[in-house]
Amino acid sequence: MAKAKKTSSPSMADQADRHDLYEQAVQCSEFEIDWVVDHFQTLRGRPLREMREDFCGTANAACEFVARHADNRAVGVDLDPEVLEWGRRHRVEPLEEAGGRVELIEGDVLAVDTPPVDALLAMNFSYWLFKSRPQLLAYFKKARGQLKDDGVLYMDAFGGYDCFKDDEEEETEHDDFTYVWHLSSFNPITHEATYYIHFRFDDGSSLERAFEYHWRHWGLPEIRELLEEAGFSRVTIYMQAWDDEEDEPADEFVACEEADADPGWVAYITAEK
Ligand SMILES: C[S@@+](CC[C@H](N)C(=O)[O-])C[C@H]1O[C@@H](n2cnc3c(N)ncnc32)[C@H](O)[C@@H]1O
Repeated sequence: MAKAKKTSSPSMADQADRHDLYEQAVQCSEFEIDWVVDHFQTLRGRPLREMREDFCGTANAACEFVARHADNRAVGVDLDPEVLEWGRRHRVEPLEEAGGRVELIEGDVLAVDTPPVDALLAMNFSYWLFKSRPQLLAYFKKARGQLKDDGVLYMDAFGGYDCFKDDEEEETEHDDFTYVWHLSSFNPITHEATYYIHFRFDDGSSLERAFEYHWRHWGLPEIRELLEEAGFSRVTIYMQAWDDEEDEPADEFVACEEADADPGWVAYITAEK
């Protein structure tokens, strides 16, 4: 995956760690956990203390959560032993005592049963890997079964007319690298899409296709219908607000039933058991 010009010293891509770059470019676990913890407290009138992170990858969100309170416990579930091992070494172990309150389970989210939690997080659109209605319904039923009676499922979604193109690259500059979100293909008949993440560096080297995803681009109406069919009592969509002064997305998600047909948007979805 690393592409570099021939030189004697290692390129920036050779020295990079794709999981570290992913966390810097894609995740903001601090904000995500702030939002979920505040939302749960407001909705249920008690603190969120037990959570499960599905498709947890490096378990960044689970670790952020347990570090916040001595009574917080988290379980992370992911299929991939390599990413779990990275998370164990770089995220869980440095937490010392708090790390003992994170359990990482290598397994399929459809198969793994864990003790009931207050909140189940399935973030960064990972549930889009389920491409058929029966598969996504089965996942939502499974997720609901992992929650306490007043538990909440937290997910996100993105959309907007810019998402229905193909071979589009969106670049974001970071201090030491450029993050590229590449919509490689989109099939309007099935809404199946292929996405790549590339990381490119100032010395001309790059990590092409550092990550790849083959997803179905689900729409909010069908996600909501399937959550209701799975038995959730209330589903709420929170659209990300726009900061007019800075002309960029705001750190605010607003519950709404109507929204502007923007070229690109991100939403949080909550589903109450
Ligand atoms: C897009 S990453 C999400 C990482 C992280 N949750 C985040 O918020 O950025 C998707 C992860 O889902 C995992 N995965 C894919 N299919 C899975 C399944 N059926 N069960 C558990 N994990 C799965 C992959 O190994 C990968 O680590």
